[in-house]
Amino acid sequence: MCGIVGFSGKNNASEILINSLKKLEYRGYDSAGIAVFEGGNIRIEKSKGRLADLEAKLSTVGEPNGTCGIGHTRWATHGEPSDVNSHPHSTARIAIVHNGIIENYKVLKEFLIEQGRSFQSETDTEVIVQMLDHYYTGNPISAIVQTLRELTGSFALGILFADFPDTIFAIRRESPLIVGVGENASYIASDVPAILQYTKDYYLLEHNEIAVLSPYGTSIYDMHYKKLDKELKTADFDMEAAEKQGFAHFMLKEIHEQPTAVKTTITPCIENGLPNFEGMDFSKYKKLFIVACGTAYYAGVVGKYVIEKLAKIPVDVDIASEFRYREPLVGADDLVIIISQSGETADSLASLRLAKKLGACTLAIINVKGSSIAREADLLLYTHAGPEIAVASTKAYIVQISVMYLLAFQLALVNDKITENECTEYVKLLQTTPEIIEKMLENKEAVQYVSSSLVNTESLFYIGRGLDYALSLEGSLKLKEISYIHSESYGAGELKHGPISLITRDMPVVAIATQTMLFDKTISNIKEVRARGAKVIIVCKEKTEIDADVADYVLYIPDLQNDLLNPMLTVIPLQLLAYYTSVLKGNDVDQPRNLAKSVTVE
Ligand code: F6R
Repeated sequence: MCGIVGFSGKNNASEILINSLKKLEYRGYDSAGIAVFEGGNIRIEKSKGRLADLEAKLSTVGEPNGTCGIGHTRWATHGEPSDVNSHPHSTARIAIVHNGIIENYKVLKEFLIEQGRSFQSETDTEVIVQMLDHYYTGNPISAIVQTLRELTGSFALGILFADFPDTIFAIRRESPLIVGVGENASYIASDVPAILQYTKDYYLLEHNEIAVLSPYGTSIYDMHYKKLDKELKTADFDMEAAEKQGFAHFMLKEIHEQPTAVKTTITPCIENGLPNFEGMDFSKYKKLFIVACGTAYYAGVVGKYVIEKLAKIPVDVDIASEFRYREPLVGADDLVIIISQSGETADSLASLRLAKKLGACTLAIINVKGSSIAREADLLLYTHAGPEIAVASTKAYIVQISVMYLLAFQLALVNDKITENECTEYVKLLQTTPEIIEKMLENKEAVQYVSSSLVNTESLFYIGRGLDYALSLEGSLKLKEISYIHSESYGAGELKHGPISLITRDMPVVAIATQTMLFDKTISNIKEVRARGAKVIIVCKEKTEIDADVADYVLYIPDLQNDLLNPMLTVIPLQLLAYYTSVLKGNDVDQPRNLAKSVTVE
């Protein structure tokens, strides 16, 4: 959700904080602010709106002049986006930035008001800074530990105490936080890309660990003041991966990175032409659960179709926010697969913990190395999409489904549902997809042209059957989140059970029809909407004959000669359709309204 940064060193802190926050704007962009030690005092500048608004303000009032400070970019939870609700929040002696949610803030606020304290903002964060101030008698660590004991919820905090110039105190519980290590410089950040321009070396802060940063180095303590000896990690990607590299938007760049992302993800999981999951034994599970949120959940839906079809093992696929509260019937014979790009999604993390508590084995499929879900799962498979900056997920989805395929092949093989030869053929086919996607991306104009027909649309449907239905879910989400056009996805056969009453001339339908077995059925459903005036865009395999009276526009995907793997290709025109529609509408493609990349609150 929110992004926090901090710098203590010998250089211009304001500049470093702003540069680092630019890399975290994907986490929230309702307001931004910094607090910097200037002449021994803490000076705070903050502003509603994007980082650019803060920069504009700083160019008028002058940026704080100092070498140590903290910064924040906000995704509003408690209190509307406004100057007063922006971080940093402060008292006369302390300033903080916060990512996360304090669940018991109301009780704490009442207590603090009884103590004679008053509040300026509607945020939960202000409770933390007031509580720190309440306990502070000259020893910051002692005040932090006492405050931590009072807080329930998730948080990562950067804290400045006016009595300790040039020092940052940082702690985390649940919400992510890393501590960067440079030459005569220390950093904190919610995510590695924020500090990559300055250093690749960092510590991963664990729950309830307290970091003390100064230009001379960083010390990390546990809650009992015991100094910890932590492993220094080095980021395995560089600044280039976190830059646009000439593309108009991160989303377009990430769409183009998909062939490489798929190759890099599947290659380590293939040996001698067969899936190889290094010692993981998938033969013993009676039932699988796939649990995730949003796009990652839709990758799970593809997984369900493919695993059930090939391996004949029942698969439940759940939205994590439902799974965690629906008392799922999960047990020791089950494998619970959590899919997450960030590895920090609150509901997915809670689902993982629940599954472990219920005795199931858990497998995490995660993109961000060292993230919370990656660290807590029993089994771990990393996807290698690299940093995904655009809020709308593209390359993370395709690598997730590529892993779903490999898992399905492996499960089918170990359960004797396919032969080794058949398995090799499937793997080979999957390996051909990156090159095919590369070629598809040379031909984006066709999709751009179709997008122009959607710009003035207020509402539309995505429909499909089987795997095409799974893809229609993702296509519809992608379009709505960045174009702001209302869009729903339905199994094509479901339309006549209600939704068809919405079909008019003004309701376009994107119909996905790449599955030969279900093609005629989908065409019948398309005819039903055509008869009611709908404009139809079909996504189908090349050389499919589509009568002129069936569709207004046709988007073709190459024919893989095996429909099972079509989703690897079908997703490309769907992503591009969403992308171009958003561009044509003049929207902020990479940072769509109200959204944040990493949803670390419920
Ligand atoms: C949509 C999108 C979100 C995420 C969802 C889960 O484009 O990105 O729906 O897929 O918030 O996030 P992760 O995968 O980080 O758990």
